[in-house]
Amino acid sequence: MTPDEPKDRIYVALDTQDLTRAANLARALAGLVGGVKLGKEFFTAQGPDGVRAVAGGERLFLDLKFHDIPNTVAGAVRAAVHLRPAILNVHASGGRTMMQAAAEAAREAAEDAEVPRPLVLGVTVLTSLDDDDLEAVGQAGPAGDQVLRLARLAQESGLDGVVCSPREIAALRRACDPAFVLLVPGIRPDWAAKGDQKRVTTPAEALAAGADYLVIGRPITGAEDPAAAARRIDRELAG
Ligand code: C5P
Repeated sequence: MTPDEPKDRIYVALDTQDLTRAANLARALAGLVGGVKLGKEFFTAQGPDGVRAVAGGERLFLDLKFHDIPNTVAGAVRAAVHLRPAILNVHASGGRTMMQAAAEAAREAAEDAEVPRPLVLGVTVLTSLDDDDLEAVGQAGPAGDQVLRLARLAQESGLDGVVCSPREIAALRRACDPAFVLLVPGIRPDWAAKGDQKRVTTPAEALAAGADYLVIGRPITGAEDPAAAARRIDRELAG
């Protein structure tokens, strides 16, 4: 689905193990953001039933970053499609065959279940890794080059796009097709605390730089009034 309003581009990260907290946030933010992101923390605590309970009618980014042999990733993607995510993701470093298997499994499972096909995105280099970390695990750096290498491979392998940091948007826009989806965490309105995020950009800057979707967590979920924080971001984007 193509987002038609700026707020539709926002997935709010519900990073919690608590079903009630996640469900309350999802309810409070319904219609104020494009959808919810549920990841490993929530999924490991609450499982598929928890995801169904929280995501309900909301658009869902299921952030489980699959990374395994192609057959296993394809099976996990097929299982994930039953949760009706709009977006799911795999590690691009799992390689070409694994990404091809993920893309094909998403297409087939969505067809079988008669649901819209989720976008399948690749995770390139985790932003927690620097050049020394990459060298230690035997990956050729610098990190920025490895991001581009993996993003191109993801595109060739049939993925719809990648997750990337704000500072990678411009280079990826140059390196990949215009339709290649860029989903960007590390977003901070200028009135929000940075927390542990080091290289941040505002929602408007990220969209102007070429981001398709934004992941925003604590500036909304940690606010005294999450709905008011989401409205404020929406106003800033619309303005
Ligand atoms: O609360 P905050 O806005 O920092 O949340 C950002 C979300 O995006 C978290 O769920 C985090 O795990 C995720 N993320 C990130 N940086 C990445 C990849 C994912 O912050 N490079």
